[in-house]
Amino acid sequence: MRLDKFLCDALGVTRKEATMLLKSGDIKVNGSVLKKGAVHVTDECTVQWDERELVLSGPRYIMLNKPQGFVCTHVDDYNDTAFVLLEEANMKDLHFAGRLDADTTGLVLITDDGQWSHRVTSPKHKCEKTYRVWLADPVQTDYEQQFADGIELRNERDKTLPAKLEVVDETQVLLTIHEGKYHQVKRMFAALGNKVVGLHRERVGAIILDDDLEPGDYRFLTEDEVNSVWR
Ligand code: URA
Repeated sequence: MRLDKFLCDALGVTRKEATMLLKSGDIKVNGSVLKKGAVHVTDECTVQWDERELVLSGPRYIMLNKPQGFVCTHVDDYNDTAFVLLEEANMKDLHFAGRLDADTTGLVLITDDGQWSHRVTSPKHKCEKTYRVWLADPVQTDYEQQFADGIELRNERDKTLPAKLEVVDETQVLLTIHEGKYHQVKRMFAALGNKVVGLHRERVGAIILDDDLEPGDYRFLTEDEVNSVWR
């Protein structure tokens, strides 16, 4: 890898800033000052900035408790992106492993590991997602069965995969689905003549939203949480 790219990744600076750092003479590779960004560095090289050793961090896996009003994209003309809630280097490398609507709250996973996010989002792997749903009208007695049988959504050829509905109270349920179709939960209830008035994701696979995270807070996943998606 080029030395300037290494500095960008290790310090979260731009290529221009990395060039300036190099020009300042504060960057050493294997004990010698180097000023040229085009020099190649390998895993065996020791890169120092002002005597501090620089290392490339490994892949990042983050859980965010998304508040209302934030979208899960890098840019949006109307809403803030949920990325503004993170204070991390190299934000451009991060992406959402599955999206929530702007008005949906709760668990969002963010990573720079494409294989990992593919595992979470690919329909083939049928990763479970549990949502707490608040409804405009009372839950009907046949809902549980209807969700288990699959629901016909507008403009979709196939029924939804069997989903598990647990009734919490007259207008609140927990719904577990294995797919991630566009606006899926809202459309499922709309198909039954009801309306979702609040939606909060609590779980993705074995990863459960941490109770300690206030809306807008985030933390890095534990090793066990990261590995859980491969099981
Ligand atoms: N289903 C929806 O309708 N919206 C979401 O944000 C997530 C699932």
